[in-house]
Amino acid sequence: MNSRRLPLPSAVFTILSGLIEERLGLFFATTDSDILAEKVSPRALEAGFESLLDYYYYLRYDPGAPRELERLAEVLAVHETYVGRELDQLTALVSTLIPRLLAVRPKLRLWSAACSTGEEPFTVAGLLNDRGLLPQVEIVASDLSQRALDIARHGKFSGRSLRALPPAASGWLDFEGPLARARSELLRSVSFQQVNLTDHHAVQRMGQVDVIVCRNVLIYFRDSTIKTVVESLVEALRPGGYLLIGASESLLRFGGNLGCEEHGGAFFYRKGGV
Ligand SMILES: C[S@@+](CC[C@H](N)C(=O)[O-])C[C@H]1O[C@@H](n2cnc3c(N)ncnc32)[C@H](O)[C@@H]1O
Repeated sequence: MNSRRLPLPSAVFTILSGLIEERLGLFFATTDSDILAEKVSPRALEAGFESLLDYYYYLRYDPGAPRELERLAEVLAVHETYVGRELDQLTALVSTLIPRLLAVRPKLRLWSAACSTGEEPFTVAGLLNDRGLLPQVEIVASDLSQRALDIARHGKFSGRSLRALPPAASGWLDFEGPLARARSELLRSVSFQQVNLTDHHAVQRMGQVDVIVCRNVLIYFRDSTIKTVVESLVEALRPGGYLLIGASESLLRFGGNLGCEEHGGAFFYRKGGV
């Protein structure tokens, strides 16, 4: 890919970053102007544009814009993730909260939203399998990035994805040299689909779920976007259902219909109504 950086005058930064936030949720502050120019330029050049203003007009008005926005999302989104990330929270979910929910409903739906390349849903599947609970929990996983989802569907991990493997992961993965592959029972238990979390209708189409794991994506959104995304997610949660966010994220400043609970040293948001 071309590494040339196209100029990004402040007026163009304003409309381009505004469009990106409107369509993808991702927020770039004015201080991030150089970063945005660096990330967008190679994609704009590859699409045949020599000016970021022309690229903006294409993204805003051309019939081909939705497809180009998807391509742009690939270069803007951060896909950092690994097997066993923030494991204490997932362990408390599977050992304490899922059994509690199963006492009320025999079959649960869990949604790993913004799952990136799949390490998170397969970690959840592994923990559930270790406790014999996997058959009772349908796991759906989603991301904005089709390319990340294509990788996720294969359940293959390597390099940095395996940097903090918990001991239990030896029961979840088959190792072939530097590669690890999710065991077939885990592969079968997770289905993937593309969902843009800022698209209220796309979130609604996910239907009702008991648990949403939406970690380390809200940090890329501004408060106003977080608020609307969380409102859609809460709508998708069944009463009494749980929302998990990343360890560095918090929703306490928004108030609303969510209680905050602590289990095993980790925090969980619970929808009221039961
Ligand atoms: C840092 S990864 C987090 C992966 C995983 N949840 C974890 O905690 O390890 C953030 C993911 O959010 C996705 N993402 C960014 N904006 C999104 C949006 N508007 N809708 C859905 N996913 C989005 C990115 O494609 C990326 O894969």
